[in-house]
Amino acid sequence: MGRLAAALPGIVAEPFLHARMVNTLSRMEYVGVRKMLKARHVDLLDLDGVMHIVEEATHALRLKKAAIKLLGGVEDGVRTYSAADTLAGDGAEAYLQGVDHGCEELLASFNFEEPARSEANYLLSSFIIEIRAEAFYPMYEQALQDAGAPFSVRSILKDEVRHLAEMTERTKELFGEAWTELMDAAVAEESVCFEGWVDVISQAAEKSLANLQA
Ligand SMILES: [Fe+2]
Ligand SMILES: [Fe+2]
Repeated sequence: MGRLAAALPGIVAEPFLHARMVNTLSRMEYVGVRKMLKARHVDLLDLDGVMHIVEEATHALRLKKAAIKLLGGVEDGVRTYSAADTLAGDGAEAYLQGVDHGCEELLASFNFEEPARSEANYLLSSFIIEIRAEAFYPMYEQALQDAGAPFSVRSILKDEVRHLAEMTERTKELFGEAWTELMDAAVAEESVCFEGWVDVISQAAEKSLANLQA
């Protein structure tokens, strides 16, 4: 997180670069929604589950609008989630794929049958991603405030805090005595994926900044 904290002010100071990073965050929220839609079976989907999908989709929308706002209300540059319209969009998405895959491997020994396997993966991967979100969004909010940015991520953070509480409760319920050890292993997997995320974001930012100064 330290490396990211050091890189954020430089990114936030450049609206075009910042807009593409915000669009990358929007893409990640969107991919999170897509994973939930695929993973969750109708037999297991309750009110909290539908809320989670809607709220993550709202985060994608809010961040997309924030990216457009940074460009003075112009969509060009952040219109889609393509590589050109994001800051390391593909590399950033690899974080989510890596977490998903890591959770799949950790869950293999539990011998779940479908749809319980997908449900367990949803709970475990959401849990560790929400831990990261709860660390990332306050740091990012601080960088936004320090730079006097024209938007805030406070409302997103509020949702993520609630999601983490829900995922904590539900994973404890599901895994019981195996919970602590499994969570430690999952958090360690996530940290490796997050290091990769910081690498691709900071390298793409450095390249963009060098281009801007050239
Ligand atoms: Fe979110
Ligand atoms: Fe969330």
